[in-house]
Amino acid sequence: MSQIIEVKVPDIGQDSAVDVIEVLVKAGDTVAIDDPLITLESDKASMDVPSPYAGVVQSIAVKVGDQVKESSVILSLSTEDAVAVPEIPAKTEETKKTTSTALKPAASAPTATSAQEKETTADELHASPAVRRLARELDLNLRQINATGPKGRITKEDVKNYVHARMQGGGGGGAGLAIAPLPAINFSQFGEISTEPLSKIKKLSGANLHRNWVSIPHVTQFDEADITSLEAFRQERKSEVEKQGLKLTPLVFIMKAVAATLKKMPIFNSSLSADGTSLVLKHYIHLGVAVDTPNGLVVPVVRDVDKKSVLDLAAELADISERARNKALKTPEMQGSSFSISSLGGIGGTAFTPIINAPDVAILGVSKASQKPVYHEGTFVPRLMLPLSLSYDHRVIDGADGARFCKQLVEYLEDIRYLVLV
Ligand code: COA
Repeated sequence: MSQIIEVKVPDIGQDSAVDVIEVLVKAGDTVAIDDPLITLESDKASMDVPSPYAGVVQSIAVKVGDQVKESSVILSLSTEDAVAVPEIPAKTEETKKTTSTALKPAASAPTATSAQEKETTADELHASPAVRRLARELDLNLRQINATGPKGRITKEDVKNYVHARMQGGGGGGAGLAIAPLPAINFSQFGEISTEPLSKIKKLSGANLHRNWVSIPHVTQFDEADITSLEAFRQERKSEVEKQGLKLTPLVFIMKAVAATLKKMPIFNSSLSADGTSLVLKHYIHLGVAVDTPNGLVVPVVRDVDKKSVLDLAAELADISERARNKALKTPEMQGSSFSISSLGGIGGTAFTPIINAPDVAILGVSKASQKPVYHEGTFVPRLMLPLSLSYDHRVIDGADGARFCKQLVEYLEDIRYLVLV
């Protein structure tokens, strides 16, 4: 017959209260005899309190941060065990003296540490015996796990999150990457500092950028287009267009030229299938356009660029970039791109390496056009040159095609009359 019993803190070898630093079970959990229930920490050591009975946890009487001593109630348990087992002493963290294989740094993952980046050694890691045991069972290196618990402690949740992240990266190309975590540095030892939280957009885009950067083999092809005649045309039409409330920037012509190039080279308008064995070729041309906002980078999508006029695109670009900056974009407006453009031309720079906006397989970076001396029929003439940086996924696109794409794009930009023939 089942009975409800209270599980109490056993003799922990001291009279003073100790901190509860981890609660390892929750109401409804089934526990076996000797399963760790909570972790306690004194000045000298941390210890797990194991369950003296098998049963189902009914309620928990402590929380992280509480102080307890011998006989404090930890939880109530419903158990079938007729006879109580003798009190099981708390298990002290023994790892300060021993070095398990799981704690040894992986030989294949050397870490560069500078004088200021003092690395945590295995002995200095804070983790309860239960967490260490779990890590050992899963053959994990505790040094690679990001600690989020109090006082830099690695919790059971941290271990689960680490395994989850490893599994997610498993099929997508990040498999096997054993990247050592950056050591936590106390910068205030070098001078005055202040801290501010990352914006929500930066947190989200940061995770995606990191994934794309490590899981896609990027190559960036650089080129430049002579846009002297395009710029002459733009200046000619600019004030007329402004009367309609629109702004004619080089970007809208670049979008049209990119759409025409994608039609000629559809592999750049594709995605790898989820299993990586085939290509999904898109019969639409939806361009993601990176927009710089005070809260971070967002990439709204302009749909069917090949079917829209330059003026339509100017109107749409003005609308989405304004709404992006006012946080008024809806999620579907940022989905479905087949290729992306990141234009820093309004700001400056001569080249950069844009990160592919997966599941796209390529992205065009545009830098600031500038006057350059170009050798032409025996003399140097001033021409307005536009720098282009094309990053592509080398699993899908060969280097020769990367160069061909840029060559074709340059041809369209150098003589935009060709665009009407596409
Ligand atoms: N070379 C020279 N001048 C350029 C240029 C280029 N490649 N691109 C734009 N300009 C000029 C424009 O003509 C305009 O000048 P004007 O008013 O005299 O005509 C000026 O720079 C500002 O243009 P901008 O307002 O930036 O418009 P845009 O159409 O070029 O770009 C956005 C629109 C939304 C893409 C842009 O504002 C933006 O946010 N860019 C940043 C994207 C980003 O952060 N990317 C990084 C991702 S990692």
